[in-house]
Amino acid sequence: MELENNTAVPEHVAIIMDGNGRWAEQQGQPRKNGHEEGMEAVRRVTKRASERGVKVLTLYAFSTENWKRPPQEVHFLMQLPIRFFDRFVPELQEKNIRVNMIGFEDKVPGSTKKAILKAMEQTKHNTGMILNFAFNYGGRSEIVQATKRIAEKVANNEIDLNDINESLVEGHMLTHSLEPYQNVDFLIRSSGEQRLSNFLLWQNAYSEFYFSELLWPEFTGDVLDEALLSYKNRKRRYGAL
Ligand code: FPP
Repeated sequence: MELENNTAVPEHVAIIMDGNGRWAEQQGQPRKNGHEEGMEAVRRVTKRASERGVKVLTLYAFSTENWKRPPQEVHFLMQLPIRFFDRFVPELQEKNIRVNMIGFEDKVPGSTKKAILKAMEQTKHNTGMILNFAFNYGGRSEIVQATKRIAEKVANNEIDLNDINESLVEGHMLTHSLEPYQNVDFLIRSSGEQRLSNFLLWQNAYSEFYFSELLWPEFTGDVLDEALLSYKNRKRRYGAL
């Protein structure tokens, strides 16, 4: 299968990287090994997405609901960005990839925040793909936060009630820094589960969905290509005929 560069490639691809735990269990290994392998899949898919001309790749690395997991696993997941950036920032630099993060900083340990901010700083002049980690992210919380900020502006007479429209709401979402690619074009979820799990609720309004049966550690660049080929054959109508 050949996929030419830049032909009907979705600008914003978002991925729910599911199945690390099941992959590890299948191998008779502890769950953390699944997350470790998942990191390699992140590397493979980031590289391929950037080669294909994707503008923004958003990866769901930790949801606001993931705090409900056992403390040891939460601790391990919090360490992942530190390990990932330690290893892969030189490669991201080489590929002109810029790191970004969306999510709520509260509760994220200082050392993790520091590693993410450092990677963002190191790659801030890169002009290629944006690798956007959703970390301690939740779609409903994002909408609540935006609503509060807009209400505050109305209460302070900074804006009028009639100024509230879709573009204003969009500008108050965590994704506003991704402009003009705030909206997701293509949503991929691995591991056979078919649900949105509170991921980019506003931004996925018109995205195309792709579900893979593969567990995230099994995901490769070629699997991404298969997904992109499926996207190429979709007809997006945005409600029109
Ligand atoms: C879902 O699998 C995966 C996560 C909650 C963590 C995602 C993290 C990575 C893929 C590693 C890369 C992260 C960074 C920050 C570089 P699961 O544990 O829910 O799997 P299961 O459904 O099989 O239990």
